[in-house]
Amino acid sequence: MIITPSILTANFCELGKTMDEAIAAGIEWIHLDVMDGNWVVNRTITFGPALIKSIRDRVGPNVFVDCHLMVTNAEENWEQYVDAGVDMVIFHVEAVEDIQGLIDKLHARGCQAGAVLNPATDASTILPYLSSLDLVLVMSVVPGKGGQSFMPEMEEKTRTFRAAIDAQIEDGGRATKLMIDGGIKAHNAAQVAEWGVEVAVVGSGLINDKGSIGENLAEIHRALGA
Ligand code: DX5
Ligand code: ZN
Repeated sequence: MIITPSILTANFCELGKTMDEAIAAGIEWIHLDVMDGNWVVNRTITFGPALIKSIRDRVGPNVFVDCHLMVTNAEENWEQYVDAGVDMVIFHVEAVEDIQGLIDKLHARGCQAGAVLNPATDASTILPYLSSLDLVLVMSVVPGKGGQSFMPEMEEKTRTFRAAIDAQIEDGGRATKLMIDGGIKAHNAAQVAEWGVEVAVVGSGLINDKGSIGENLAEIHRALGA
């Protein structure tokens, strides 16, 4: 299971060093949480395309960078994230009218398309689009900040996507990736890996004052038996 850091708990004045540390620890995928101060329940603002471009330039072209858009108008402003250099835009199905249209626009720009569901959103909202999606993200916290508690009740939804993706691959279809985000730590990483998750976002479990990213990542890998 790939572990990708969310940078919400990082010191934003030290982000370049944090990125260097993550890459030195073997991280190959960065998860950037964009919040516009309106869409998430606690009205958080994080950062936008300008910071994303700086991170892209710092980590170089070989690190995979996704942006998780927790914004009200993803259908209007998705392109500035592609221009900032992300490899994948992950949009919330709850905030987009024309899901297939946005997937097609992202693909037309050579960008991968991911769809993310809030904990309360049923898998059925996105299953019709699965064959076009490069990734499905199951939120295991209510979006808005790092450091929240993991929601184990996301098991059923996650396993539903695992089965649907496996069937899709079996039929020669797209190998859509399955990602989980929120409250993932060393103590529950093996649990979500068993659910069939391929990529886990880890924020406060990786970037904290308990240990270095390398130490925290090693603890998660040990828990995964890696
Ligand atoms: C929450 C974000 C998550 C979060 C993960 O709104 O989408 O990526 O930062 O952080 P932890 O791992 O601390 O829950
Ligand atoms: Zn996220």
